[in-house]
Amino acid sequence: MQENPVEVRKEFPRIVVEPPGPKSQDLHRKANRYMKGYSSQVRLFPVAFERGKGYLLFDVDGNTYIDFSSGIYVTGCGHCHPKITKAIQRQVAKLMNCHDFTTSVKYEFMEKLASVTPGTLSGIQLYSDGTSAVEAGLRACRTATGKLEFVSFWRDFHGKTVGSVSLATMSLDKGIRAPGFFLAPHPNCYRCPFKLNYPDCGIYCMEFLKKQIKEESTGRVAAIVMEPVQGWGGSVFPPAEFLPLLREYCTKKGILLMLDEILTGMGRTGKWFACEHWNIIPDIMIVGKGLGNGYPITAIVVKEEYKDVLEKMSASSSYGGNPVACAAALATIKVIEEEDLLENAQRIEKVVMGRLNKMEQAHPIIGDVRGKGCLFGVELVKDKLTKEPFEEAGKLVYQKAFKKGLAWIPAGHILRMSPPLIMPEEVADKAIDIIEESIAEVEKKFGY
Ligand SMILES: Cc1ncc(COP(=O)(O)O)c(C=O)c1O
Repeated sequence: MQENPVEVRKEFPRIVVEPPGPKSQDLHRKANRYMKGYSSQVRLFPVAFERGKGYLLFDVDGNTYIDFSSGIYVTGCGHCHPKITKAIQRQVAKLMNCHDFTTSVKYEFMEKLASVTPGTLSGIQLYSDGTSAVEAGLRACRTATGKLEFVSFWRDFHGKTVGSVSLATMSLDKGIRAPGFFLAPHPNCYRCPFKLNYPDCGIYCMEFLKKQIKEESTGRVAAIVMEPVQGWGGSVFPPAEFLPLLREYCTKKGILLMLDEILTGMGRTGKWFACEHWNIIPDIMIVGKGLGNGYPITAIVVKEEYKDVLEKMSASSSYGGNPVACAAALATIKVIEEEDLLENAQRIEKVVMGRLNKMEQAHPIIGDVRGKGCLFGVELVKDKLTKEPFEEAGKLVYQKAFKKGLAWIPAGHILRMSPPLIMPEEVADKAIDIIEESIAEVEKKFGY
């Protein structure tokens, strides 16, 4: 773990000017003349950051925040981790780009990545953003099977290019779904699309998926694509049986299972990859976000038997697998191993889930809480029985907690949290204090 005595930790967050402060607002206003299309997180709280260190973020007005977002599920090892920074600096001074020629750092990184992926997942192609890797995954599935169709799930998110958007329900920029893509209800026991109760439901979502494929597809399904834990949609975990049943079904039908572990991989849920919680191995896995701890690098990783498929698809791109990205990712994996960050993520899960479970009992607007490792979700509702989403409360809790010094990423009525894996337990506890205090203030405002 990074050096950080408890006394020092107690000082944070430290708010010296009410955020977003004047310098932040001024800078954001100027940047906004050029940059259009900010995320709702920025629009609701236009702070401007200057630097980061470990689990802390510093804004241009002199405020220090606890980072409960890891950028956007990215900087699992904390901001500017010294070993990762050094590895990048060393490589920048040596060689930054040589197309897709082999370099020793690329070989070393891929060997390391293959050593932490489950089963025989070891055929690799490298890209620089998540959506490009998802697109490559779709190409690989079509090449491997000679089939054209894809099935994915409501409210999963896979990126913003045409294929990725076609896998999603969220109407990104009013995209039109490409032919051959269709969606099934995502297993979500808190908001069951069939209004059934787990476990009496008999995992009906799986039965429905089979029926849907039979009725809607032409029988040429190349792959089922899924986020093992729905991230952007609100940290939604499937019931225990779903992924093993899905794996079994895909194998039986000759359909590939492609898991998008961009958000859930690299230790985010307390294991290297979320699929390990259910002891299943996908045919193709997509990895990103935490892979380079902030330096852009993503990968598709396929099982041994599909390596020759990758050979048929050209993977070269301007930046994919460049030496600096590989140096960052190699150092990231080493840090996760050397600093026992999977174990730390599991410790954080205990602290945070312990608190969230108690809060669910104590607060009338908390409908559901869930989490594994360093990935959490809290649903705010107007009424625990009707479960009506409480969007206004979500916005206000987000803004209030940010003002108190918590940098985080709620979306709509779901509070989403993804602290870095290096987070000390007492800092996580403090972050939850801030969230609980903000929820209590919002409840008071709305007369609960
Ligand atoms: C599960 C998942 N897949 C794909 C993507 C797209 O990644 P990128 O934004 O790097 O293109 C994201 C991004 O949030 C994601 O969460």
